[in-house]
Amino acid sequence: MKTLIVYASQNGSTADCVNYLQSKLDGEVTVKKIDERLPKLDSFDTVIVGGSVHMGKIQRKITSFCRRNKRLLLEKNLGLFVCCYTAEGEEGFLESIYDEQLLSHAVMTSIFGGEMRYERLNFAFRKLFESLNKVEGFRQGFVEPEINYVEIEMFAKKLSA
Ligand SMILES: Cc1cc2nc3c(=O)[nH]c(=O)nc-3n(C[C@H](O)[C@H](O)[C@H](O)COP(=O)(O)O)c2cc1C
Repeated sequence: MKTLIVYASQNGSTADCVNYLQSKLDGEVTVKKIDERLPKLDSFDTVIVGGSVHMGKIQRKITSFCRRNKRLLLEKNLGLFVCCYTAEGEEGFLESIYDEQLLSHAVMTSIFGGEMRYERLNFAFRKLFESLNKVEGFRQGFVEPEINYVEIEMFAKKLSA
C-alpha cells in the first residue's frame, strides 16, 4: 500500500506529528510539505492531508490543495487532520477547516493537539499572547495544547487497515 502525506506546519509541531504518524503507518509512505513539488496523486492508495490552525484557519495552501484535488481525493483512502488547541468535539470546528464532502468521505478525521512553541513566534504574535495573558480570565479558559500521540496512533491504525 502506498501512502502520501501532504502537510503544512508554521512552527514545527505539525511536522513532528507527521514524523510520528509516518513511523506508525504500514507500507511505503511519502511525506511532502505543501511547498514542495508534489507527486501525482494517481499512484497512491491513501492520501493524508493536514496542517495547523492559526487564528481560526488552516494554511491557505492546504485549502487550495484540497480544492484543486477534490475529485481525486474523493477516490482515495483519505485521512484529514489538524494540529491546534481546539479540543475534539467542538461543534462545527472541523467543518470550518475542511470541505464537507471530503470530511464525510474521509476514513478518519482527527485533531492531533499541538504545541504553541512561543519561542518561535514572530514579534507581533509574541506581543499578542503576552497581552492576552494579562487579560483576566484568558488563562483560565485556555488549555495549553499537547501533542496527542495516542490519537496519532489510532489515526495511523485506521488508515493502515
Ligand atoms: C499565533 C497562534 C495562533 C493560533 N490560533 C489557533 C486557533 O485559532 N485555533 C486553534 O485551535 N489553535 C490555534 N493555535 C494553536 C496551533 O494550531 C498549535 O499550536 C499547533 O500545534 C501549531 O502547529 P505548528 O507548530 O505546526 O505551526 C494557534 C497558535 C499560535 C501560535
